[in-house]
Amino acid sequence: MKTRFPLEGCRAVITGASSGLGAEFARQLAPRAAALLLVARREAELAAVRRSLPPGSAEVRLLVADLATDAGRDALLAALDATAFRPNLLVNNAGLGDYGRFDAAPAARSRAVLELNITALTLLTHALLPRLTRPAGILQVSSLGASLPVPELAVYAASKAYVSSFAEALAVELAPCGVTVTCLCPGPTPTGFSGAARRPGGPDTDRRGTGPLRMPPEAVVAAGLAALAAGRPSVHPGRTVAFAAWLFRVLPRPLLWSLLRRRAARGGD
Ligand SMILES: NC(=O)c1ccc[n+]([C@@H]2O[C@H](COP(=O)([O-])OP(=O)(O)OC[C@H]3O[C@@H](n4cnc5c(N)ncnc54)[C@H](OP(=O)(O)O)[C@@H]3O)[C@@H](O)[C@H]2O)c1
Repeated sequence: MKTRFPLEGCRAVITGASSGLGAEFARQLAPRAAALLLVARREAELAAVRRSLPPGSAEVRLLVADLATDAGRDALLAALDATAFRPNLLVNNAGLGDYGRFDAAPAARSRAVLELNITALTLLTHALLPRLTRPAGILQVSSLGASLPVPELAVYAASKAYVSSFAEALAVELAPCGVTVTCLCPGPTPTGFSGAARRPGGPDTDRRGTGPLRMPPEAVVAAGLAALAAGRPSVHPGRTVAFAAWLFRVLPRPLLWSLLRRRAARGGD
């Protein structure tokens, strides 16, 4: 069974809406949505995103919350329950990377990635499901990195493998309940991601060699929303990214490991 999600008049909660893809989700949904709740930690950046939205579009609320904590997640639920805002769309977009060797990562850094990319995404999905009016939509933002192990981005890539598996399972499980679930798997996209993923004193993470995979945030978000509207369980925006995802899945593992070793020996690229 396949469901479609009508974007017109939707009421969306967008996590990680203060920059990058989240801000772009707000900009593309604003003319079509009835209401948006934008969530992130940086208040000034959230306010700037609200100012950038077309005037006269959706009613927009802001919530400052650290979703990597129980307190922040509880604050989001409390804000929903305290107001008349009844969402029917959750865009689980907030995410964090961590570039560098795993053995050199501060444990707190790995925990932050897991808390945001896995725990927050899972618990918010669980908590919002009974709060989402039907027909409902959930857009889980994963990554091309979900398709393969990525040395020096190991925890992040593994966390996104979780997101993709979780999202595709829910897409099947929840369709009969009127909930459309779509997993968006972007390739490298110029946003604040690389800066946030860079460790203090760490190497420049805006790596060479990603050109053909690179997509602008506008195209990534448009592809994600179109897939959700069409009820597709998963989308890799851009033909090159889709081809790369397919290749990573079908390559014999020993060959993939060999390619990853050679890449690591070159210092990554
Ligand atoms: N850019 C890429 O190349 C790429 C590729 C594949 C997948 N993705 C995924 O796309 C999603 C969006 O990332 P982006 O590329 O747009 O990067 P970004 O510009 O760094 O945006 C990340 C967003 O997450 C928010 N955030 C971070 N930690 C948070 C926390 N603890 N609580 C609440 N919000 C938090 C940030 O806001 P505050 O700092 O204000 O909290 C920001 O709004 C992520 O899930 C990422 O993994 C990105």
